[in-house]
Amino acid sequence: MNVSEAVDKRKSVRKFRPDPVSDETMRSLLEDASRAPSGGNVQPWRIYVVNGESIPRMKDFLATQPPLDAPEYEIYPQGLTEPYRTNRFTIGEQMYATMGIEREDKEGRRRQFAANNDFFDAPAALFCFVDRQMGPPQWSDLGMFLQTFMLLAVERGLSTCAQEYWSVRHKAVSAFVGAPDNEMLFCGMAIGYADESAPINSLRSERMPLQQWATFV
Ligand SMILES: Cc1cc2nc3c(=O)[nH]c(=O)nc-3n(C[C@H](O)[C@H](O)[C@H](O)COP(=O)(O)O)c2cc1C
Repeated sequence: MNVSEAVDKRKSVRKFRPDPVSDETMRSLLEDASRAPSGGNVQPWRIYVVNGESIPRMKDFLATQPPLDAPEYEIYPQGLTEPYRTNRFTIGEQMYATMGIEREDKEGRRRQFAANNDFFDAPAALFCFVDRQMGPPQWSDLGMFLQTFMLLAVERGLSTCAQEYWSVRHKAVSAFVGAPDNEMLFCGMAIGYADESAPINSLRSERMPLQQWATFV
């Protein structure tokens, strides 16, 4: 597989098969992903892996914790303007449409949101933290690391879904993984083998045409 194929093939998978991912695979993916660039080679990512038996243990722990925390960062800007607002709205509608969940079906939508909490049944996950002293440049480095990880996962036949969802459960996540107070949770990631038969995994997200976001000066 070449890089272009991996980029094209990567997509957010929201239903996984139970097949396990070994710690060895996770370790090698993380090591390889750490070739990602970062400003000043600061390497600001701090990763906690939850895999195998730790997954059910974490789910049990989460069930004992308050259901939602106020996120420590704004997941989206308030009053998101166009075209970003429509992009966000569209992917949500398209995702629910794959499962036949109508706009009025609040319970169906809540259920899909709650599936985040089960890592979409993935057998492996990671959580990406960053030291609180870091600012936007280092947060962007996290993205480089995470995308590199996700592409390498594709190469190994694995699928992923990045999950900002966990920012509304950051206290429970920090407590479970043992992250120190100086580390702030950015996001989680569900990792495993895609359930290709699941309707939700048929979603292919759209992209805006180049001329809407690129300017050749
Ligand atoms: C940092 C980050 C956090 C995300 N958080 C979630 C999440 O909590 N739940 C979810 O279902 N998808 C989440 N996504 C997936 C996005 O919705 C998805 O990347 C986007 O719709 C584009 O689709 P694609 O990944 O299939 O190309 C997240 C993606 C990123 C990059």
